[in-house]
Amino acid sequence: MLFSPTGFSECLREWEDLEEDYQRMQDTHRLYKQKLEEVSRLQESCSTAIARQRRKLKELTGSLEGCKENHPTPKLSLEDADAIADMEDAIKDKTDAFSEMEAFLPKKNGLYLTLVLGNVNVTLLDKQSKFAYKDEYEKFKLILTVILFVFSFTCRFLFSYRALDALFNFLLVWYYCTLTIRESILISNGSRIRGWWVFHHYVSTFLSGVMLTWPEGALYQMFRSQFLTYCLYQIGFVQFLQYYYQSGCLYRLRALGERHNMDLTVEGFQSWMWRGLTFLLPFLFFGHFWQLYNSITLFQMFQLPECKEWQVLMCGCSYLVLFMGNFFTTLGVVYQKYMNNQDKSKTV
Ligand code: COA
Repeated sequence: MLFSPTGFSECLREWEDLEEDYQRMQDTHRLYKQKLEEVSRLQESCSTAIARQRRKLKELTGSLEGCKENHPTPKLSLEDADAIADMEDAIKDKTDAFSEMEAFLPKKNGLYLTLVLGNVNVTLLDKQSKFAYKDEYEKFKLILTVILFVFSFTCRFLFSYRALDALFNFLLVWYYCTLTIRESILISNGSRIRGWWVFHHYVSTFLSGVMLTWPEGALYQMFRSQFLTYCLYQIGFVQFLQYYYQSGCLYRLRALGERHNMDLTVEGFQSWMWRGLTFLLPFLFFGHFWQLYNSITLFQMFQLPECKEWQVLMCGCSYLVLFMGNFFTTLGVVYQKYMNNQDKSKTV
């Protein structure tokens, strides 16, 4: 319970205590502002130093290439050739280290974030906040997955109203837009999300927007059930599996205390990741081929004489782009992981 002074002398003593406390608070705040200025200065000098190192290393790489070209191997001693190769390896390591350092330094937003948020700094300055933001992103996707699953189930099996479908598509547009913003912020904070996954959400936003404008009619009804069943599978079921895999990766890597530079200490993580991936991949690929099937259905519908809606062709093209991007990027991710794994086993 708070102490409340009664007599005047008690009030006076309380006032003096408060004054002292206020002075201490002012000193702490002054120190805080001083440290903030110090941090800003350090950030600026780190950013400048990284930019300078990058420029010089680029020049040096060019000069090393020149040395190799002007002096073919017989003229360049074996030792010099080895020294050049070592230097090139070290330059590559440094470039990776710069990217990790930059994840903790404020930087200018890209075009998309500048357009959406303006020029506000979105860099989170400690690992804890970065982890919390990524964790929140995964949880946000999970909550929306549940909502979208219930929504698509209702539209598919319980009520068939165009207005309800429109609300569902509107929710999808909002969801994908939000993901693109959150993912751009994650990338600014050092996340290695591939460009395609972000672009895939732009295409999905466009696709849901087109679905929203598709007028009620025979063609709409022809595609409706297939579309809603696909949503149930892809947005509901597969996304839930993806959440399980991604958050599993996140927590395990956090527990290991490192993220991108995997070495022997992460062997257990590697085996968990491969088990997770081999379980997830068949469902992912099935979803990709469903996207292809959607696009073929829409292209066939476009050839019908009664087809007047431009939405049919637009949705067909979008599904085709989604299929190709998702399928080949997933294959690329798995191939790269496999090759990294092989390299690691060779170095053991
Ligand atoms: N969406 C958003 N972020 C993704 C992502 C996706 N589809 N795939 C990977 N990432 C993120 C990871 O979380 C990680 O982020 P971090 O650097 O902040 O920790 C980063 O990208 C690098 O991930 P990477 O190691 O390349 O892959 P992974 O092991 O995390 O995931 C797959 C591999 C194949 C499971 C994943 O890419 C995937 O689910 N792809 C299929 C998506 C799909 O086809 N969707 C269909 C339409 S919904």
